[in-house]
Amino acid sequence: MVARGKGILAADESSSTIKKRFDAIGVESTPDTRRDYRELLFRTTGAMQRHISGVILYDETIRQKAVDGTPLVRLIEQAGSIPGIKVDAGAKPLPGFPGETVTEGLDGLAGRLKEYYELGARFAKWRAVIDIAPGIPTATAIKANAQALARYAAHCQAADIVPIVEPEVLMDGDHSLERCYEVTEHVLRTVFSELYDMRVMLEGIVLKPNMAIAGIKAQRQASPDEVAEATVRLFRTCVPLAVPGIAFLSGGQSDLAATANLDAINRLGPLPWSITFSYGRALQAAPQKAWSGKPGNVAAAQAAFNHRARMNGLAAMGQWSEALEKAAA
Ligand code: 13P
Repeated sequence: MVARGKGILAADESSSTIKKRFDAIGVESTPDTRRDYRELLFRTTGAMQRHISGVILYDETIRQKAVDGTPLVRLIEQAGSIPGIKVDAGAKPLPGFPGETVTEGLDGLAGRLKEYYELGARFAKWRAVIDIAPGIPTATAIKANAQALARYAAHCQAADIVPIVEPEVLMDGDHSLERCYEVTEHVLRTVFSELYDMRVMLEGIVLKPNMAIAGIKAQRQASPDEVAEATVRLFRTCVPLAVPGIAFLSGGQSDLAATANLDAINRLGPLPWSITFSYGRALQAAPQKAWSGKPGNVAAAQAAFNHRARMNGLAAMGQWSEALEKAAA
């Protein structure tokens, strides 16, 4: 999952999230259009074999077949990539804590993991969501989310499935990088404490965090070097060395920022963990736009996906440059 020069494609948008993405490109969201779009990604020769170690799927997708009848899971395996599955049921309001959520989905999880294993999943994802705004997050919401993440991770390991542990501190607000750092430190320390209490083997997880980064509406945006310095300092103080890999979410960063920041982080190496990407939007925005639902655009969409996968693969090794972006454009 965190092999050198490779990262994870997060293609696990729920039906409501993918509808928003399709609305933006003028495509109706139906089981068939969702299948067509994801099939074109998984059939992208080059990107899949060279740069995508694993693909996170949604419940609908793990059961779907390509137009020629091949299960989509087989396409991923045939490319030498690992199928994974989102197993949480989404972030729901936390009663008594206005503006805060706790991620649900623990009920029946053991049974669902067994079924997903049979369908081909070898890793899973659970996303906890922590928002930054005046008065939040509270320690209670952080703890509730960390406990759920730890119970999920323990269930995964009992089912021979690698858990991606994703505590996402949102970058939607106008907060500073320093505030993001402080909240993310509290979140990560709490998550690792709960993982320990729940007897989760840290050697068998992948952490999927946010970077230490300013909110998207903040006056001052940090440079890639500033993001990298703060992020590495943060992880050095609270991510145990036993964790084999860290795969970032993109969280609303532009395609270029997500790549430049990952590259700057890896340039601070050697680091004690493999550090790569597990991007949704930052890998898919360009291919989605190029595709726009037209069969005649499949080759252009695959070229766009190939390009972003290659750029992020280079960034995962600290070998990306803006010149390479321009050379390809
Ligand atoms: P983004 O990279 O679009 O943030 O998505 C990654 C993901 O899987 C969030 O759970």
